[in-house]
Amino acid sequence: MEQEAKKRSLRMITYGLYVLTAKDGDEVSAGTVNWLSQASFAPPLVMVGVKKDSHLHALVEKTQKIAVSILDAGQKDIAGDFFRPTKVEGSQINGHEFEFSTVYTLPLLTECPAWFEAQVTDTVSRGDHTVFVAEVTGAGVRQPDALPLVMRETGWFYGG
Ligand SMILES: Cc1cc2nc3c(=O)[nH]c(=O)nc-3n(C[C@H](O)[C@H](O)[C@H](O)COP(=O)(O)O)c2cc1C
Repeated sequence: MEQEAKKRSLRMITYGLYVLTAKDGDEVSAGTVNWLSQASFAPPLVMVGVKKDSHLHALVEKTQKIAVSILDAGQKDIAGDFFRPTKVEGSQINGHEFEFSTVYTLPLLTECPAWFEAQVTDTVSRGDHTVFVAEVTGAGVRQPDALPLVMRETGWFYGG
């Protein structure tokens, strides 16, 4: 396979950007991810690729629960704050206010227009990222007219 073609082709996949969160007791992890998609209507499944050597991976693997805060088009700066290790201070994670989700009490960024939480149902651990398939069990919308943040418009790449 021509490596440059593989890279360029895979980078033409369109993505959004999301803050994925997990929690085990007092331990919290939050990271910005783009490898996320819905994968079934019934049951409502999503799939997300999570880096195997990350703290986020350790918590998702252990708890089998995830929450996703959907970033708005104007929230590139927030995405940037979650490439860094997670730091919880009072009511903030990495400098952003959070509250807890209704079903699994996972952290959600209150600035984000929408969120959902999900229970992991299946795991594919073949590559350097694990694909977690998860069933959506709770969701909320704060700003119905929001436009989501699109990876292409940030100038960032994660893939290829
Ligand atoms: C543009 C961009 C997109 C990313 N997308 C993903 C992703 O889809 N999955 C993932 O596991 N990490 C992704 N990352 C890396 C995580 O944001 C980062 O490694 C994580 O938040 C820190 O991991 P930690 O849990 O070890 O602190 C991405 C990084 C960047 C810069």
